[in-house]
Amino acid sequence: MANAQPALDAPPSPPSGELQATGTLEIKDSRTNKNYSVQIIQGGVEGDTATRAMDLRQIKTAPDEFGLMTYDPAFMNTASCKSAITFIDGDRGILRYRGYPIEQLAEKATFLEVAWLLRHGELPTQSEYDQWVRDITFHTYVHENIKNFLQGFRYDAHPMSMLCSTVAALSSFYPEAKAIHDPDQRNISIVRLLAKLPTLAAFCYRHIKGLPFIYPDNDLSYTENFLSMVARMSEPKYEANPVFVKALEVLFILHADHEQNCSTNAVRAVGSSQVDPFSAVAAGVAALYGPLHGGANEQVLRMIKEIGHPKNVPGFIDEVKSGKGSRLMGFGHRVYKSYDPRAKIVKALADDVFKQVGMDKDLEIALKLEEAALSDDYFVSRKLYPNVDFYTGLIYRSMAFPTDFFTVLFAVARTAGWLAQWEEMLNDKEQKIARPRQIYVGYGERPYESQLKTKFPSAKKDVLRK
Ligand code: ACO
Repeated sequence: MANAQPALDAPPSPPSGELQATGTLEIKDSRTNKNYSVQIIQGGVEGDTATRAMDLRQIKTAPDEFGLMTYDPAFMNTASCKSAITFIDGDRGILRYRGYPIEQLAEKATFLEVAWLLRHGELPTQSEYDQWVRDITFHTYVHENIKNFLQGFRYDAHPMSMLCSTVAALSSFYPEAKAIHDPDQRNISIVRLLAKLPTLAAFCYRHIKGLPFIYPDNDLSYTENFLSMVARMSEPKYEANPVFVKALEVLFILHADHEQNCSTNAVRAVGSSQVDPFSAVAAGVAALYGPLHGGANEQVLRMIKEIGHPKNVPGFIDEVKSGKGSRLMGFGHRVYKSYDPRAKIVKALADDVFKQVGMDKDLEIALKLEEAALSDDYFVSRKLYPNVDFYTGLIYRSMAFPTDFFTVLFAVARTAGWLAQWEEMLNDKEQKIARPRQIYVGYGERPYESQLKTKFPSAKKDVLRK
């Protein structure tokens, strides 16, 4: 029957993943008076519309010219891929993984269930989930040499530097991971990365603290085991606080993916060279470390410490607005132009955790900051709202994690998204090595005329002077 409507309780059919032509854009080049027609494409029902940048290449003033490019520093308006993993509507504050609202996943799912969903596109059956959990649990141990490698770091090394280096180092332990077009190799690499990230993260923590490394306990769940590796001392079995376990599980789910953010773009770009996934994920960790990205949760707490007291909030806000001080960390987002839906969940979660451990003394400053910013025209007119990082730091600190460890927790969770995005990129026939163009604005050709008297000056003198 033509145009039959699906039964109300029928599961929605999976999207085709194809881009549909929905119209054309007529362009007139004023330099040549020539007209061009380029296709407008759209991805599925929720999909954004775009034109293919390559369609503009035909627009030129002479046959031997390169043709028109688009200029878009910082990818403000450029889609680098099509993706079926995460949907964000920044104006309406919507975040969904594979169609499932983040609020429902945070309330009802486990992190490993979400990791499966991100990668495979559907929720796991019981047998798929059991096998997935078994596989990940089985691979939590790292090679003993990783411990020696970590011992080489100074006591005050930043844990994100350590994590980035150890994830990259894993590549040398699994040279077979280079076979990225072999689905079995891809699978084992993905399992290894998800399994070993908590172990590496916990080892980084123990190194900073000068504590012995605690091996994984494979009787425990993913988050319980992580807390055990972080916090266990002489007790034979670690029993984590269930409120902390739940909080970490939810925070891991909230951080698991966020479409084409800076670190995911780094993983995709580096992965597009067909390097192994350990190296690509290490690039993601490096990108996440930055204070404008995952490093913001750390900066929020430093900012609150600097403010020191709720009475100093108005002065601090004035400083931010004047542009003399730093930005209001944990506020603003490239995509969300309303309340970040994850921030709402985190705020409620913070209440649960503080009920358990007592009110965090800095929460009052955070609440006051939020209230002041949300009623100030500077922030309102720029659509600056709290992002996920505004309250996460307070929760992590109340769980006794040191400030510079917060971004490591983010990295453990985001590994699920990085890997799903990496694999999606490999399976996308349209993807090639990521290599942007530039608009050259430097000198034209000029002859080389050296200004040097000596080409190889000795560094010896400088060293002795120090
Ligand atoms: N505090 C004060 N002003 C801000 C803030 C802020 N947090 N964020 C943006 N603005 C202002 C800018 O100064 C600019 O003002 P102008 O138009 O007068 O020049 C305007 O808002 C737009 O800012 P952009 O930098 O153009 O916005 P962009 O989308 O490039 O940046 C970003 C997004 C990096 C997240 C920014 O909002 C920011 O720096 N926030 C603080 C850091 C932070 O919390 N990062 C975490 C993001 S979430 C995550 O990565 C997990």
